[in-house]
Amino acid sequence: MSSFSYRDRALCVGDLPLAQIAAEVGTPCYVYDLDRALENLRRLRMAFPQADIHYSLKANANLALVRALVESGVGLDAVSGGEIFRAIRAGADPAQIVFAGVGKTHAELEYALKARVGWINVESQGELRRVAEMSRPFKRRPKVALRLNPDVHADTHHYIDTGHAASKFGIPVLEAQNLLRDPQFNETLQIAGVHLHIGSQIGSPQRIVEALKQVLPLFEEFPNLKTLDLGGGFPVSYTGESVPSVEDFAEAIQPLLNGLAIQLLLEPGRYLIADAGVLLIEVQYLKPVLNRSEVEVIAVTDGGMTELIRPALYGAYHGVLPLKLPSEGSPRIATQVVGPICESADVLNQRAMLPPLAEGDVLAVLHAGAYGAVMGSTYNARPRPPEVLVEGGQWRVVRRRESWSDLIELENGLDP
Ligand code: LLP
Repeated sequence: MSSFSYRDRALCVGDLPLAQIAAEVGTPCYVYDLDRALENLRRLRMAFPQADIHYSLKANANLALVRALVESGVGLDAVSGGEIFRAIRAGADPAQIVFAGVGKTHAELEYALKARVGWINVESQGELRRVAEMSRPFKRRPKVALRLNPDVHADTHHYIDTGHAASKFGIPVLEAQNLLRDPQFNETLQIAGVHLHIGSQIGSPQRIVEALKQVLPLFEEFPNLKTLDLGGGFPVSYTGESVPSVEDFAEAIQPLLNGLAIQLLLEPGRYLIADAGVLLIEVQYLKPVLNRSEVEVIAVTDGGMTELIRPALYGAYHGVLPLKLPSEGSPRIATQVVGPICESADVLNQRAMLPPLAEGDVLAVLHAGAYGAVMGSTYNARPRPPEVLVEGGQWRVVRRRESWSDLIELENGLDP
């Protein structure tokens, strides 16, 4: 259940009307409900009591949000030097950071090694060689996990299906076996774990089970492997469709791990934060659609693909709700909700059944907590919106709105 619900016909987060935030902060604006994120975390912990949770920063890396999650005891999953920097700024213990990613640069690895991150999840033979070489001067053997490619499809959108043979991610199991047998790497590294992340918004636990069956034999052959990082990928229901729960995943996965003395890591992103966030947008213009049966009106709003690219990029569905619900019995109109950006793909919802709207009405785009702000851009010279964190009924701005001068800040003085 989402934490955004109507009270006296006003869409609220807990008891707090979202209209209050929109009125003070303006639109577009992201609102995150920390209580909801912590509730999601509790549920995941209950399903996997033995796991160490490493929140995946790529889903939403806002410092205040990350700090709150770190304070509740999670480690972090970072995929760039910038994310490690954010993690440390948010108060994370570097030993609780796993550093993943298929293209880590020399500079990023150097930063990670110097910061003493807990794990480096290595994705190729070339990277393993590079990390082994770079670790030499450090006189301690950093911990490395091999990210494996089990050649399994995750039952999801093909852009976020990452564990099949044709994808750029991970090391094929046979190749990993050879690397694990090669003594040269042990001199400067401890290859102590296996990392498996077959995709995001995974449609079925069976896919993880299939993947696990490919990699578990490695733990018998190589007793130095002590840790299994199962990545993220737990799905959320965007349309109200039924998706497997974290309990379903636990039920499918646990039996395979019984009897194995290994530490389990998880890297959830979307599951913790997607339904804890909304994007508030304001209707600017209403354009009736003539001769089209699918929608009757286009609502042009002040938020679009620059704030939430998921519909344009993946054809993803995000529900849209009005902040003010009209009286019962008022009609519903098939409304296309679009942004102001000069792209036909700039549609947030192709066909939302909404009450009749007026200019100035504010709408909430749901499930915008994960992969919303982090994938935002300033295309069309649009300043990025502010982010608001709600905690125990209180709210505060945790990222200010960018200004037009912010947009040219890095060019100042460089245009002779
Ligand atoms: N661990 C690794 C190694 C990953 O690559 C990812 C996501 C995660 C953890 C977290 O996955 P999650 O629990 O959030 O599914 N922009 C896309 C999602 C891209 C996910 C990339 N990797 C979207 O908006 O659907």
